[in-house]
Amino acid sequence: MTADRSARPRVVVSVIATADGRVALNRAERLLDEDANRRWRGAWPSDTADLLSARSAAIDQRHHPTVVLEGSGTFVADDEEPPPLPSTTATAAELRTDFLPFRTPRWFVVVDGRGRVRWTHKGDAETSLLVLTCGSTPLPYLAHLRRERIPYLVAGAERVDLEAALVALRSDLGAECVVSEAGGGLNGALLRAGLVDELHVVTVPVLVGGLGTPSVVDGPPLDVGASPVRLTSVGVEVGADGSIWAHYEVSG
Ligand SMILES: NC(=O)c1ccc[n+]([C@@H]2O[C@H](COP(=O)([O-])OP(=O)(O)OC[C@H]3O[C@@H](n4cnc5c(N)ncnc54)[C@H](OP(=O)(O)O)[C@@H]3O)[C@@H](O)[C@H]2O)c1
Repeated sequence: MTADRSARPRVVVSVIATADGRVALNRAERLLDEDANRRWRGAWPSDTADLLSARSAAIDQRHHPTVVLEGSGTFVADDEEPPPLPSTTATAAELRTDFLPFRTPRWFVVVDGRGRVRWTHKGDAETSLLVLTCGSTPLPYLAHLRRERIPYLVAGAERVDLEAALVALRSDLGAECVVSEAGGGLNGALLRAGLVDELHVVTVPVLVGGLGTPSVVDGPPLDVGASPVRLTSVGVEVGADGSIWAHYEVSG
């Protein structure tokens, strides 16, 4: 499906990368883990924080986004086996329908088609967690989300259909702009599906290296014979210590 562009929200990708384009230290550690986060942030010079605040304020002012998007890779490792959940007597027909028991001004939306994340935080007074699931998401996980009153949308069969999910975020939640703060896996999938409209990269003067270390956009390689996606520069700000905030529109 390729929906009319106006049927989905604008998608803004917002990342922090090293000078070699890495967005994490390796594939084994999540930046949410305290120790990894300390080493990741500990390498930033003092101008990074100001550029991050300026970027956040600019995105808010320009688009008033109501949805932040993340991938499951931010919360669990690729090969992590989630703790088992109790089986359910509810049927697929009952569970594989959107579950939106309440509305909220802002949403923290996570793609988790495999049902791997066990949530300990569901949001606050302003922002609620919502999970994007699909036809292959295990039924016990959907039953678990319902028990926990965690809203979810069902989009796609084997994987979450990102375009259909975005269309649903607009039609069901009124989202006009989604800011993806994900790692390279989800941002790569959005790029390959032609769903990225705008990119903000704050580059820190640090090197990580390592084949397979998550980068700004991962996912499948470019098709043989295909050309890179062109960007139009909107603005570049350079901090006193060499951090760089670059803002682009995806052309055409
Ligand atoms: N520096 C930064 O700004 C930044 C930001 C966020 C995260 N990180 C770091 O980046 C690392 C995680 O990156 P990652 O690439 O492993 O994880 P990721 O970006 O979360 O990528 C995996 C996610 O993409 C989804 N996905 C992948 N291909 C898809 C497709 N074709 N269709 C639909 N969904 C698709 C997966 O869905 P399923 O779950 O359904 O399989 C999963 O939710 C962590 O270390 C994290 O700390 C850094």
